[in-house]
Amino acid sequence: MTTFDNIPAYHPNRVSIIGSGNVGSVLAQRIIEGSLADVVLLDIVEGRPQGIALDLMEARGVHGYGRHIRGANDYNDTADSDVVVITAGLARKPGMSRDDLAQVNAKIVTEVAKQAIAHSPNARLIIVTNPLDVMTYLAWRTSGLPPDRVMGMAGVLDSARFQTFIAMELGVSPMDVSAMVLGGHGDLMVPLPKYSTVSGIPITELLDADTIRKLVDRTRHGGAEIVQFLKTGGAYYAPASSICVMVEAILRNQKRILPISAYLQGQYQLQDLFLGAPCRLGWQGVETILELKLSEAEQQALQQSADSVRQTISQFASLMN
Ligand code: NAI
Ligand code: 2OP
Repeated sequence: MTTFDNIPAYHPNRVSIIGSGNVGSVLAQRIIEGSLADVVLLDIVEGRPQGIALDLMEARGVHGYGRHIRGANDYNDTADSDVVVITAGLARKPGMSRDDLAQVNAKIVTEVAKQAIAHSPNARLIIVTNPLDVMTYLAWRTSGLPPDRVMGMAGVLDSARFQTFIAMELGVSPMDVSAMVLGGHGDLMVPLPKYSTVSGIPITELLDADTIRKLVDRTRHGGAEIVQFLKTGGAYYAPASSICVMVEAILRNQKRILPISAYLQGQYQLQDLFLGAPCRLGWQGVETILELKLSEAEQQALQQSADSVRQTISQFASLMN
């Protein structure tokens, strides 16, 4: 008689989300609704992640999805995660730049990254907390992970905004628009019109220079536009969708080409910092960083964005020892 004793135990993928605020909780919902992984939602505030997790568990039967979600305040519950996402920290209020958050969030992110990776040393780490490229660098340094397993989410969101504004301007479906934004997640980000297309047609052939300039400007200030409306915090639906795309690319080894804040070691003539660039993303993490041909003006803009990130990082030397 056939026995099935040797079948290895079933281990679903596990994603831990550190920070169960607006972004973290919507991300948890996206992940379990997409049946991507079981989720552990952790926060420093007692009760909040447990309440959100129970609420989402109660939606399982209604929606008919099978993944499990648990709320936690203790890192032991996050052990052996495949992916850890850090969304812990302060969000922007009207009038604040992302850099205004740096002092408080640097302490939170370094502490949280250390603890999370101590419990999940094989995880890929996705940073979301702002200022994004600076926090990603600090998390990499304090986590001790190899650079290809640490990445920041910003480019997917910034490109999604550019994609949306192009689609709105042309009256076409955003599904037919592919947009590319490089650089840091700040006002100096570098949207690239010549690499942004509608069904393969560069937008430079569809829109005049002045209109493109307006769309680029709106993209650069896309985060602030939402903060101005909400007043009490920043965007979280499109950010959560953007993180989810990265989580899926890793867990399903999709080899997607996505703009990611990745560790540059000479690419784009930049060294030793995390900055947005198109990357191939799969199970191993950031597998390749693609180098696009840039004009002199685009390269200069990227350098300016990198200088601004580097300047903020230099304030945190003491946290990186
Ligand atoms: P939120 O204020 O709704 O949530 C933050 C959560 O972090 C809170 O629940 C808080 O209790 C928790 N937290 C604080 N310190 C913690 C610690 N030491 N350990 C565990 N949890 C802790 O903020 P929201 O809207 O969810 O944004 C989170 C961060 O993500 C902000 O820094 C925001 O600027 C950033 N962000 C970045 C985006 C990007 O494109 N990279 C997009 C959207 C938000
Ligand atoms: C955004 O771009 C706040 O960085 C966040 O919406």
